[in-house]
Amino acid sequence: MTVSEAIKLRRSVHSYDPTKKVSDEQIRQLIELSTLAPSSFNLNHWRFIVVTSDEGKKKLHENSLNQRHLLDAGAVLIVLGKIDAHLDVGLFVDDWIEKGYYPDDNHLNIVSSKFYGLRPSVQRDEAIRSTSIMTGIMLLAAVEMGLSTAPVIGFHFDKVMEAFDIPENYVPVMLMTVGYEKTPMPPRVKRLGFEDICYKENFGKPIE
Ligand SMILES: Cc1cc2nc3c(=O)[nH]c(=O)nc-3n(C[C@H](O)[C@H](O)[C@H](O)COP(=O)(O)O)c2cc1C
Repeated sequence: MTVSEAIKLRRSVHSYDPTKKVSDEQIRQLIELSTLAPSSFNLNHWRFIVVTSDEGKKKLHENSLNQRHLLDAGAVLIVLGKIDAHLDVGLFVDDWIEKGYYPDDNHLNIVSSKFYGLRPSVQRDEAIRSTSIMTGIMLLAAVEMGLSTAPVIGFHFDKVMEAFDIPENYVPVMLMTVGYEKTPMPPRVKRLGFEDICYKENFGKPIE
């Protein structure tokens, strides 16, 4: 399967076959593939809570506008972004230097203390931005693995944080349902056209 085939096949599935499970090995493979994604300064902002139990899915369902697909999916991933991931720079410094990217830890310490350190809104944006890029890759990796997915943002953030003991330095970026489609999807909903979303050289200047 080519990447463009995966892009065209991917849909947000809302009707899962509840009898079809997703194995721990499949989830591991999916996460390991997806986290080859880029992240700002390679800080690996993403974290996951893998929910496959009926009890766990019920807790999510109750706090997610009762969206049925959260119960029927084989697994639901609570995808988190670490807001203070810049403090983890020390986990990566030796690797960067050993592989010849930087001569010493000076640059990376500046990143940690200056670029992110004093800017809480940028920290949060980055946790969401880098983690979201990873989830985009996850959607395509899942297609190649024969799995269906849907990103879900319709949930009560605070209640999910509390119900799953998520610390305050993490932002719930989205839920991701993973499973096997039960009924075929209707045609894809429309997209804005190229001319509607692209400008040339300056905002507002139409592209030919
Ligand atoms: C960040 C994000 C959050 C979403 N949240 C929900 C959701 O809570 N419930 C839902 O049914 N679909 C959700 N969707 C799916 C969108 O409705 C879907 O992507 C869109 O209608 C386009 O359809 P397609 O993904 O099949 O191309 C979400 C998609 C994204 C990217």
